[in-house]
Amino acid sequence: MQPNSLQPNSLQPKRILLIVGGGIAAYKVLDLCRLIRRKGLLVRAVMTKTAGEFVTPLSLGSVTGDKVYGELFSLTDEAEMGHIELSRDADLVVVAPATANLLAKMAHGLADDLATTLLLATDKKVLAAPAMNLRMWAHPATRRNVERLTADGVTFIGPASGSMACGEFGVGRLAEPPAILAAIETMLSGDTLIPLPDGAWADAGDSGRRPLSGRHVIVTSGPTHEPIDPVRYIANRSSGKQGHAIAAAAAAAGARVTLVSGPVALPDPFGVTTVHVETAREMQDAVDRAMPCDIFIGAAAVADWRTGDVAGQKLKKGHGNPSELTLVENPDILAGVARRTVARPRLVVGFAAETTDVLAHAKAKLARKGCDLIVANDVSTSGETPGGVMGQATNTVHLIDRDGIESWPTMGKEAIAERLVARLAAMLAK
Ligand code: PMT
Repeated sequence: MQPNSLQPNSLQPKRILLIVGGGIAAYKVLDLCRLIRRKGLLVRAVMTKTAGEFVTPLSLGSVTGDKVYGELFSLTDEAEMGHIELSRDADLVVVAPATANLLAKMAHGLADDLATTLLLATDKKVLAAPAMNLRMWAHPATRRNVERLTADGVTFIGPASGSMACGEFGVGRLAEPPAILAAIETMLSGDTLIPLPDGAWADAGDSGRRPLSGRHVIVTSGPTHEPIDPVRYIANRSSGKQGHAIAAAAAAAGARVTLVSGPVALPDPFGVTTVHVETAREMQDAVDRAMPCDIFIGAAAVADWRTGDVAGQKLKKGHGNPSELTLVENPDILAGVARRTVARPRLVVGFAAETTDVLAHAKAKLARKGCDLIVANDVSTSGETPGGVMGQATNTVHLIDRDGIESWPTMGKEAIAERLVARLAAMLAK
C-alpha cells in the first residue's frame, strides 16, 4: 500500500486515528478520509466488528493509504504495532460514526475490542461524531453518556438534523464530512472551541451551551388548504421540506421550537412541538397562541386568498360556474408578527417565493412586510434550482436585509436550514 502523500501544509505531519463505528453512516467516513488526506494529514483507521457490516477494510485502506486495524489480539498486528502504540502515534482520535453503543462503552470505560481499548488507553484529544436513530440520541441513557463524556473532555461534532435512514426526521445524522474536517483542523490547531461549521453544532450535549438554548423559535411550514366545498380546496405545491428542516435545525441548536404546519406528508420533526393546521386563518391562530417567541420564521406557502363562500355541499357541475368563486384576501401572518407593538420577536424572518425578478420582489417584500430578513428563492421550474424548489430536496436562496444581499449556492434544504439557524443565532447573540 502507498504511504499517505503529504501536501505542504502547516498541520503536517499530524496523524488522525479514526475509529469507525458500526452504523449506516459509516460509508461517509470514506469521504472524510479523502478530505483529511487532501489537507495533507495522515489517517489510520480502526474498525469495530460491526463497522465491517457497512464498510470494507479494503475500501477504507484505499482511502487512508494505510493498513486498517480491527482485531485486538492479532499476532501480526501486535508484532508490527502494539495497540497502545496505535493511539500514542496519533495526534487526535476521531470516532465516526460514534454509535450509541460505542458512546455507552466509552462512557463506562469498557475495553472489549481494539477500538474501545484504544479509546481507554489514549491520552490524546478525542472528537466524537455521533450518528444514530433520533430516539436513541434523545434517550436518557445516551444523554447521560454524552454528558459524562463531555465532562471527561470528549468533544462532540453533531449530530446534525434531517431525514434519517429509518425514514424518520430529526436529530441524529452524522455531521457532514466537511464539518467534521473543520472540527479536526480546529482541534489540531490547539483551539478548544469549535466554530459552528455548516451542518452541526460542536457542543451537542445538553450543557446549555448550544447557541439557541433558552430561546423559543416559531416556524411556519407547508402549504395551506383553503376549502371551496367539503371535498375541494385551493392549495399550492409546498411540501414543507424547507420549513420542517428549519424547525429541526433550530431544535438541534437548542431552541424550544413550535412548528405550525399546513397539510404535508412529512413526519413531525423529533423534539419539536408541531401544531397541525389546514387554512391560513388556522395558521394565524396557532401562531398567535404560540407567541411570544425570540425568532419567527415564516417558511409556509400561505394561500393569499380563500373562497368567500365555502359551499356546504359538493358543488355540482352545471350548478354555478367555478369562475364565479369569490376570493377574499387572507390575513398576512408574517406582516402581522413583524408589526406587533407588544412582544415582537427579536428576529422576524420571511421567505419570498418568486418566479420573476426574484431579488427586486423580495426586497419590496422585506419593506412591505416589515421583517428583519427575507430568504428569497426562485420557485419557477426553470429557475436557479434544477427542477424547481417546491417539493424538491434542494434550494438556492438569497438572504436580503437592510444592509444588502447574500447569495448562497444551491444546497440541500437541510444544509440551508442549518446555515440559516447558525446565522440567526449569531444575529441574536449580537
Ligand atoms: O415547502 P417546500 O416544498 O420545501 O418549498 C419551500 C418553499 C418554496 C415553500 C419556501 O422556501 C418558501 O419560499 N416559502 C414561502 C412561500 C410563500 O408563500 O412566499 P410569498 O412570497 O408568497 O410570501 C412571503 C412571506 O409571507 C412568506 O414568509 C409567507 O410565509 C408569508 N405569508 C404570505 C401570505 C400570507 N397570507 N401570510 C404570510 O405569512
